Amino acid sequence: MKRVLEPEIMDDEAQALAYAKADFSSSNQTFVEMLLEDYGVMLRSVLDIGCGPGDIPIRLARAKPSITITALDASEPMVRLAREAVRSAGLQRQIKVIKARVPGLELGAGDYDAIVSKDLLHHLPEPAVLWEEIRRLARKRTAVYVMDLFRPPTQRRAQEIVESVSGGESPLLKHDFYASLRAAFTIDEIRKQLRQASLSLDVEQVSERHVLVKGLI
Ligand SMILES: C[S@@+](CC[C@H](N)C(=O)[O-])C[C@H]1O[C@@H](n2cnc3c(N)ncnc32)[C@H](O)[C@@H]1O
Repeated sequence: MKRVLEPEIMDDEAQALAYAKADFSSSNQTFVEMLLEDYGVMLRSVLDIGCGPGDIPIRLARAKPSITITALDASEPMVRLAREAVRSAGLQRQIKVIKARVPGLELGAGDYDAIVSKDLLHHLPEPAVLWEEIRRLARKRTAVYVMDLFRPPTQRRAQEIVESVSGGESPLLKHDFYASLRAAFTIDEIRKQLRQASLSLDVEQVSERHVLVKGLI
C-alpha cells in the first residue's frame, strides 16, 4: 500500500475531542511501562513531542512522581485538552504543556534525560524533521523512545486492524485511524530514516500495529 498523507496537525476541535475521548489506555500504558522498565532509573526530565491530549505524560507522571515532563503539541485544541487534563489530575507541578511545532522547537539542547513520542511520526510529511530535532536536543546518553504505527501491506489489512482495535469507537475516530495507518511508514522506511539521520537506535515491531524505536544517543 502506498503512503497517503493525512493532515499533520490535529487542530480540528471535533477531531481533537474524539481523540481525547477514545480509549488508548492499553497502548499508552504499555508505552509508559516499557519506557520505565528500560530507562526508568535514569529519568528525571522528559520531553514528550506530539503529546496530544496528555494521557501519556499523565500516566508517566503518576508512575514516577520524581520526574518532570515537558509535553508539547502544535495543535491549539490538543494543548488546551492536555492542560485541562493535567489540571484535573493535579499534576501541574510535574507537567508543563506548551504549544510548539517540530521542527524549530525553542528548547534548550541537553535538558532532557529522555525524548519520547507516540503516534506523531506518521503525521509528518518529512519525517527527517523529528529525527533531526531529537539529535539536536539530545545530549550524550539521552534515551529516545518513539513508538508509531507502521503501514500495513494492504488496505484490507488496514481495515482489519481498524475493526479489531477500534470497532466500537466513533466513525470519525475510525476514519482517522484508517487514515493514520495509510500515512504511516513501513518498518524498513523507518530504518532508512534513522540511517539517513545517523541515529543508531533499535527498531522493533511491538504489536500488530506499532513499531518502537529506542536506544541511548
Ligand atoms: C495521533 S496524536 C498522538 C498524541 C499522543 N502522543 C498519544 O499517543 O496519545 C499526534 C499529535 O501530534 C501532533 N503533531 C503533528 N505534527 C506535529 C508537529 N510537527 N509538531 C508538534 N506536534 C505535532 C498532532 O497535533 C497530534 O496531537
